Amino acid sequence: MSKIHAAITAVNGYVPEYVLTNKELETIVDTSDEWITTRTGIKERRILKGEGLGTSDMAVPAVNGLLKKRGIDAKEIDLIIFCTTTPDFTFPATANVLADKIGAVNAWGYDLQAACSGFVFGLTTGAQFIESGKHKKVLVVGGDKMSSIINYEDRTTCIIFGDGCGCALLEPNEEGFGIQDSILRSDGSGGKYLGMKAGGSVHPATHATIDAKEHFAYQEGQTVFKFAVTNMADVAAEIMERNSLSSDDVAWLVPHQANKRIIDATASRMGVDSEKVMVNIERYGNTTNGTIPLCLWEWEKDLKKGDNIIIAAFGGGFTWGSVYLKWAYNS
Ligand code: UT7
Repeated sequence: MSKIHAAITAVNGYVPEYVLTNKELETIVDTSDEWITTRTGIKERRILKGEGLGTSDMAVPAVNGLLKKRGIDAKEIDLIIFCTTTPDFTFPATANVLADKIGAVNAWGYDLQAACSGFVFGLTTGAQFIESGKHKKVLVVGGDKMSSIINYEDRTTCIIFGDGCGCALLEPNEEGFGIQDSILRSDGSGGKYLGMKAGGSVHPATHATIDAKEHFAYQEGQTVFKFAVTNMADVAAEIMERNSLSSDDVAWLVPHQANKRIIDATASRMGVDSEKVMVNIERYGNTTNGTIPLCLWEWEKDLKKGDNIIIAAFGGGFTWGSVYLKWAYNS
């Protein structure tokens, strides 16, 4: 019997309607469209407005659209891996909330926390359940309502992040298409440079932690930038090398959208031309777990069966990684 690969068989995405432009940010913090554009490549980002709405509320339309595209019922899903840094609640898991909202009554699920590398970690872990023969349909969701943890008085973080959610369905493929390889890495010593200081078990939320604004994302941008630019490029080059892929063999690079300068450095290290690089950072900013599935969703119509795709990400933790896959369908 030929080896079972886990192949992506459908992708979809959702971004909220509200557009927060650089111009509007100029009225909120001391910044400029020119600074944001040249330092990050971002022009605008989406924000989920509305009382009582969380990350799962963006996942619902994304996943329902995916199920419709694939022509399957939510009851057929075996497992939901919800990659997010902004879960609806500390518990229950957002995977459970989502399963209930879409009627995935036969699925089990869990949330996966690997910050901006979450979707790469989620694809890799989800693939194990397909390759082992345990499951037939694994839904990997990546999404964040970053606006819920952003301090809109901090110009170094509020200009970067946005809200959005994407998803991919993994199914068995015996023709050699699907996920071929992945490299995942973590370095906990980098945790102090990007994270949220309070709200966990070490510093549960109190008036004092709120007054100190420790319930917001904290980032030492320059340090994170240095690690991101090196590690994301290195891991993408490493996965190409160990699979004997030249830049000509690579049809698409799908990079995490944190900063256009990091994306360019990764593409250049891989020797991949800019027209093969998925970039939508100018419209959505950094949606953390959402960036990679949102790219796949927007470029789905351009992807051809057999295309070699390299996904690469870097995030808080630190976490980073790369997935090499052969695209499994023409849409
Ligand atoms: O997604 C997962 C991981 N995250 C990342 O990969 C993000 C990595 N980091 C970055 O993308 C960049 O470090 C930032 C976009 C966050 C910042 O860009 P930078 O080029 O590293 O800026 P910087 O922090 O070195 O600051 C340069 C100057 C400073 O002014 P002085 O000290 O030179 O006078 C900042 O105060 O730019 C100033 N500055 C700003 N100016 C206008 C910082 N933020 C802003 C701003 N508008 N929004």
